[in-house]
Amino acid sequence: MHLKKLELKNYRNYKHIKLDFENRAVLLAGNNGNGKTNLLESIYYLSSGKSHRTNLEDELINWDADFCLLRAVIGSPGGDNDDFLLEIEMRRQNRAKIRVNKVYVQKKTDFIYILPSVIFSPDDLRIIKSSPSQRRDFLDSILEKIEKGYSRLRLQYNKVLLQRNGLIKSISGRITASHMSTLEVWNENLIKYGSEIIERRLALAGRLKGIFGSHIEDFFNGTSADMKYIFSWDRQENNGFNSESGNTVIVKPAHMDGDGQLYGGIRKIFESRLAGNQERDLSYRTTTTGPHRDDLAIFFDGKDVRSFGSQGQQRIAAVSLKLCELQILKEDLGKNPILLLDDVLSELDIERRKKLIHIINDCYQTFVTATNVSYLDNLDVDFNRKYLIRNNAVTQLDY
Ligand SMILES: Nc1ncnc2c1ncn2[C@@H]1O[C@H](COP(=O)(O)OP(=O)(O)OP(=O)(O)O)[C@@H](O)[C@H]1O
Ligand SMILES: [Mg+2]
Repeated sequence: MHLKKLELKNYRNYKHIKLDFENRAVLLAGNNGNGKTNLLESIYYLSSGKSHRTNLEDELINWDADFCLLRAVIGSPGGDNDDFLLEIEMRRQNRAKIRVNKVYVQKKTDFIYILPSVIFSPDDLRIIKSSPSQRRDFLDSILEKIEKGYSRLRLQYNKVLLQRNGLIKSISGRITASHMSTLEVWNENLIKYGSEIIERRLALAGRLKGIFGSHIEDFFNGTSADMKYIFSWDRQENNGFNSESGNTVIVKPAHMDGDGQLYGGIRKIFESRLAGNQERDLSYRTTTTGPHRDDLAIFFDGKDVRSFGSQGQQRIAAVSLKLCELQILKEDLGKNPILLLDDVLSELDIERRKKLIHIINDCYQTFVTATNVSYLDNLDVDFNRKYLIRNNAVTQLDY
């Protein structure tokens, strides 16, 4: 699938624009503040039903208007007759109305599989640099796209976690039999949903590891990358337990055999660790064991990239994670996703830029923003279309 036509009315800084594209790389060039990110954001919204920068849909409507419209023709490999017409209309303080081929759809899940996409923006560096929650979110956001029941599973887990934390907080003094019996119910459900989440994340991390390793090898010849899913019970931080701040120190996993396999399965380990940490949970007044405290550690040549990677290495690690996502979506959804790259070229050296351009030219319909077309000098670039974004208008540049 690819984006063939895009029309925006009153979307952010655009009053009315109409663009068309082929199934190739597209360059969006323009000075700061002219609307490059806004354009990528609109494409991402048409793909996923949400913005990558805000949950407030009213922000997407032009300041001087009370509605906006996004319209796209999605091309199919089957030919023009199989094209999709996607329309999204937003009015202030109302839910967005979505139509596919002129028919209203109620749920976002009814249309987000039409045009899958992956977006990279400078903020995504936080996946590497920030707290474990960013890396868990990265894994979860992929699982939500490839497994229909995963969002629900997370909701169920989070609900039980809230209930368990609520109970723990309410216990002051001696723990009673009634506390214990309620705690047992929450524990049982926490283990049930939590083990399923961990198993899915582990399977995904296993797939990511191989793809990630080959991208890093490609970007930095001779650098070997590794990726490890870190269980809450194997994490320990400066302050003595696995909080969200500070760097993760991985304690030796006691439940692994020599080949790194888990003894007894996730469920059993989670159960025993949860029971073993109950006293600690009561004193910290929160649940310290479970997938909400897990992490994903990333290593270059055996060193944790979060602590020891250079800016450029961290950026390439983040871009490579997104390229992994692209491949996983392609494999699992059976169609080529589109790739949206915001402001990535300026931050990379010429060698890394070349490699990235090589990857995107090869495979996917890609939209790349740049403030300066000279970033493309000396690169073997094959942009099919180049657009200049200036004064709230988009004009095609001669090739
Ligand atoms: N709802 C809105 N209505 C009108 N204008 C808006 C709205 N939301 C944002 N803008 C304007 O859109 C402009 C362009 O923003 P955008 O982030 O797309 O720029 P950009 O080209 O990506 O810039 P940079 O190179 O600095 O990242 C901003 O200057 C902002 O004032
Ligand atoms: Mg921008």
